[in-house]
Amino acid sequence: MTECRICGGAVEEFLDLGRQPLSDAFPRPADVDAEFFYRLAVGHCVECTMVQLMEEVPRERMFHEDYPYHSSGSSVMREHFTRTALNFIETELTTTDPFFVEIGCNDGVLLRTMAESGIRHLGFEPSAGVANVARERGVRVRTDFFEESTAAAVREAEGPANAIFSANTICHIPYLDSLLRGVDALLTPDGVFVFEDPYLGDIVKKTSFDQIYDEHFYLFSVRSVQAMAERFGFELVDVERHPVHGGEVRYTLARAGARQPTPAVARLLAEEEAQGLARPEVLQGFASSVTRIREDLVALLRSLRADGKTVAGYGATAKSATVTNFCGIGPDLVSYVCDTTPAKQDRLSPGVHIPVKSTEAFTASYPDYALLFAWNHAEEIMAKEERFRESGGQWILYVPEVRVV
Ligand code: SAM
Ligand code: TMP
Ligand code: ZN
Repeated sequence: MTECRICGGAVEEFLDLGRQPLSDAFPRPADVDAEFFYRLAVGHCVECTMVQLMEEVPRERMFHEDYPYHSSGSSVMREHFTRTALNFIETELTTTDPFFVEIGCNDGVLLRTMAESGIRHLGFEPSAGVANVARERGVRVRTDFFEESTAAAVREAEGPANAIFSANTICHIPYLDSLLRGVDALLTPDGVFVFEDPYLGDIVKKTSFDQIYDEHFYLFSVRSVQAMAERFGFELVDVERHPVHGGEVRYTLARAGARQPTPAVARLLAEEEAQGLARPEVLQGFASSVTRIREDLVALLRSLRADGKTVAGYGATAKSATVTNFCGIGPDLVSYVCDTTPAKQDRLSPGVHIPVKSTEAFTASYPDYALLFAWNHAEEIMAKEERFRESGGQWILYVPEVRVV
């Protein structure tokens, strides 16, 4: 039996996505024999409802100097985080000399606004490559994992933080007990801990099973986050939905009793209840939809191959590792994947080894079809690649169902 990482309750598996490689490790052709694999399966805790992976990948295998994901690669995300930073400055950072801490600041996509605004800040970022990019943008970074000991060291040296923020990182951290003790050590008595991550409600609704991969250890819901907060002396006082990355929730935690919860918390809890997010049959239904998507996508790609059509992937996302490896989609079905990230180019995609090329390779000679792995950036990418469709190209999408547009 697997024990819940939050409460120790029993975790019941509801979906097995098979043997998977690290989602953000793009091997050189010479290194394919050294790839690391693990079993990707997901379950829900029968006590606190937290949805989590059945197997944990050691953090140093995922987050290191060569971690290739650069948050600033999307203009929509750059705007989203600039707005977020300015909003914090107006609401939570109004005292004299406030201190703002970000967990997982990556290339400084958010903290650059704090630096430009003269706000005392610190980013925790264990992946040294992206941390250095943030530094070049004038951001203060500690190249470290945020956990109890490192948070306490910062409290000691720099005083308490008025706000701690994290985007697309808290769900990456299995050791949330240590993390929340760290938040407790670092936060002012009336401070807030705000984090946003892909939302289980959207994942189930859209069957976006590719949000499940090594780095996404937890798939949060309001109910599971509320239970987790209470366990560690905090209270969930606000929730906000955001359309980024296919649907996220931004959770605001304060010390228990310090702030009045907004009506949005009860409202979204009620929506979850109606959706049946904590019911095993709903999660099993999600798993059945995943199998149907696999069948439909593989059938479509095989028929296009039989018709002599060319298909390229668009966006060498971490998510695409789950799709390609679960569905068995290799270079025979998708000849290459294009991506703007230099660190991914001229490498192979994890596990199935589809060559990764620049987006210039895509525009130089369009394929007949483009399988949009970066579907969460669809609007931005389709607008940028308008000429592809004008030249007769078609996009293939696979969530919430397989379709050609
Ligand atoms: N916040 C950015 C965003 O939303 O685009 C980056 C998200 S990226 C998917 C996750 C980041 O969290 C990586 O840069 C990784 O190195 C970092 N990370 C992982 N574990 C961490 C920890 N314990 N403390 C701080 N950062 C961590
Ligand atoms: P994400 O879905 O985890 O944010 O990853 C998006 C990936 O897609 C990342 O490797 C960068 C790439 N990308 C492009 O190639 N072109 C684009 O216009 C955007 C927004 C992302
Ligand atoms: Zn639990």
